[in-house]
Amino acid sequence: ATTLGASAAEQGRYFGTAVAAYKLSDTTYANLLRTEFNSVTPENEMKWDATEPSQGTFSYGSADQIVNLAKSQGKKVRGHALAWHSQQPPWAQSLSGTALRNAMVNHVTQVATHYKGQIDSWDVVNEAFADGGSGARRDSNLQRTGNDWIEVAFRAARAADPAAKLCYNDYNTDGQNAKSNAVYAMVQDFKARGVPIDCVGFQSHFNAQSPLPADYQANLQRFANLGVDVQITELDIEGSGTAQANSYAAVVRACLAVTRCNGITVWGIRDSDSWRASGTPLLFDGSGNKKPAYTATLTALNGG
Ligand code: G3I
Repeated sequence: ATTLGASAAEQGRYFGTAVAAYKLSDTTYANLLRTEFNSVTPENEMKWDATEPSQGTFSYGSADQIVNLAKSQGKKVRGHALAWHSQQPPWAQSLSGTALRNAMVNHVTQVATHYKGQIDSWDVVNEAFADGGSGARRDSNLQRTGNDWIEVAFRAARAADPAAKLCYNDYNTDGQNAKSNAVYAMVQDFKARGVPIDCVGFQSHFNAQSPLPADYQANLQRFANLGVDVQITELDIEGSGTAQANSYAAVVRACLAVTRCNGITVWGIRDSDSWRASGTPLLFDGSGNKKPAYTATLTALNGG
C-alpha cells in the first residue's frame, strides 16, 4: 500500500502518531494525520494534569477532540497515561500515603470509565522503573505509597474498561538491560499471579547516546513469550539521511518479525512537532515533506 497506516494494516498492525489537540487546525498536520496514520496517541491531553486539574474535577475537552477525530476517521486510540510520576497536577504532587493512593485509584477509574470502549490500549502505568543498573523501581510519590501501586492501577483500569488492552510503558527498556530485566520480572510475576496486564510498550526514543539496540527484536520477542502483546509506542530516531532511514526500517522489520508486535507509534508527525528541543527525529520535515526515513519505513512495512 502507499501510506503508513494502510501498509501496516495489510500486515495486521497499526501505524500511529502522537497528536497534539492544538495542532489539529493546522491543515498540513491534519492532512498528514488523516491520510498516513491509523492510530493516535494524545501527546499530553490524557495525562493527570490535563484530565484532573483540581481534585475530583475532570476536564476532557482536548482529549475528547482527539478521540472524536480518531473515531470519525476509523483510527485506533492509545490512551496515555493513567498513572505516572510526571505531569501530575500540583494537588496530587502535594499528596502522599493513603490520600495519594486513593486519588490515583479514583483517577484511573474515572478516566478509564470516561473512555470506556473507545481505547485500543491504555498506558496504565508509565516509566515506573529506575534508569541505570539497579533494576529498582523509580522513587516517586506513587512508589512511596507502596510497591503494589502498579498492580492496583492495573486492576482499577481493568474494572473500569474490560475491553481495553492494558499496557506497561517505559523507555530505555528497548534492549536487554537491567531496567528491561526488571520490567520483564514484573510482567512475569503479574502473569503468574493473575494481575491484569496485556501489553508492554517500548517507547523507543533513540539518539546517539541511546541508539537502536542490536537485540531489539530479541527483547520484544522475550516479552511476547511471556504472553503479552508488545507495542512500539513513542518512536523517534535522531539523525538524518540514510542512517536514520536504515534505523527506522530496522525498527519496522523487528516489529513485523514478532507476531505479537501489534503496532508502531511515532512521537509526532513533522520534525517541528517533536518534543525534542532540536534535531530531526521524525518521518516528515518541518514543511510536511516525506523524508528518506518515511520512504524506508513505508518500504519496510510493505515487506521490502
Ligand atoms: O501547554 C503549556 C503551555 O500553556 C505553556 O505556555 C508552555 C510553556 O512551557 O508549556 C505547555 O506545556 C508543555 C506541554 O508539553 C505541551 O506542549 C509542557 O511545558 C511540557 O513539559 C510538555 O512536554 C511534554 C512532555 O512529555 C512532558 O513530560 C511533551 O510535549 C511530550 O512529548 C512528552 O512526552 C513524553 C511521554 O509522555 C512519555 N515518554 C517520554 C515522552 C517525551 O518526553
